Amino acid sequence: MPKFDRDRFISGLPKAELHLHLEGSLEPELMFALAQRNHIAIPFQTIEEVRAAYSFSNLQDFLDIYYQGASVLQVEQDFYDLTMAYLRHVASDACRHVEVFFDPQTHTDRGIDIGVVIGGISRALADGQTQLGISSKLILCFLRHLDEAAAFATLRAAEPYLDKIFGVGLDSSEVGHPPSKFARVFEAARNKGLHLFAHAGEEGPPEYVWEALDVLKIDRIDHGNRALEDKALVERIVQNGLTLTVCPLSNLSLCVVDNLANHPLRTMLNLGLKATINSDDPAYFGGYLNANWRAIAEALNLTKEELVTLAHNSFAGSYLTQAEKQTHHDAIDAWAARF
Ligand code: ADE
Ligand code: ZN
Repeated sequence: MPKFDRDRFISGLPKAELHLHLEGSLEPELMFALAQRNHIAIPFQTIEEVRAAYSFSNLQDFLDIYYQGASVLQVEQDFYDLTMAYLRHVASDACRHVEVFFDPQTHTDRGIDIGVVIGGISRALADGQTQLGISSKLILCFLRHLDEAAAFATLRAAEPYLDKIFGVGLDSSEVGHPPSKFARVFEAARNKGLHLFAHAGEEGPPEYVWEALDVLKIDRIDHGNRALEDKALVERIVQNGLTLTVCPLSNLSLCVVDNLANHPLRTMLNLGLKATINSDDPAYFGGYLNANWRAIAEALNLTKEELVTLAHNSFAGSYLTQAEKQTHHDAIDAWAARF
């Protein structure tokens, strides 16, 4: 029997990405190009200097540098170029569908109109569909370190563009900013027909995951690692059939896990949780979608069956229609049958 070539299997395995911050896909090369194009000063002279600064010991360390990097994004074409560069990366990862986050407040707080941000991103997503065959949904994230009034103002500013926005999410510094802080904004978003997502249990305690479920009434959990500390919570997530968007290289970079060999992904699957593999902020954490798949598969020695389950989970946890999902499930099974 020929040896199973896991990396080759992953390379061609059809998959979706459900946890990706577009601002987190800003590569140093594009950061320099945009800084020059827009005459923005950045505190780095070389790409090596930028990469050397990407050494984090927690979420806040990362966020400080991530918000600083976003300052080079100024005009519609910048947001287009950022999004298109991400889509080109994942097109070569056999990624067929993406549900991506953006942080409007990072830009509106610098005086950039939200229409400029959404215009550039959505134009690239449309081209991603026609030129690369990647379908997509766009999720507007509220920055949780800012207050409720700022989140409401963002939702109001997004009103003219809601045809381009599929849902709202919650990101940025988790500890000290529980989901309940945004209960009323999420209710308002739900009343507008938007789907609801939230980062929960990345650094924050299981109580934050309970709040995301019970107070915000989210449709999918971003990260969710610390849910494993609470047996009743795990049962609840399994019963509700909620998907977890897990990000292995992010977890390693931000010291959520000390070693990928200790990552809870397999435990999640064994508990019946619908875990998926995602890249979070690939320009900062050392790799795009397939880099995450390869790293965690290698560290945990994931089997072909586990990889197939994870690929199915990525489409099952998406918001594609049932018919669209079925096409992707069939493509996964066809690829698996070739090995
Ligand atoms: N914004 C970008 N990446 C994030 C992460 N991993 N957690 C919280 N906020 C983020
Ligand atoms: Zn994230």
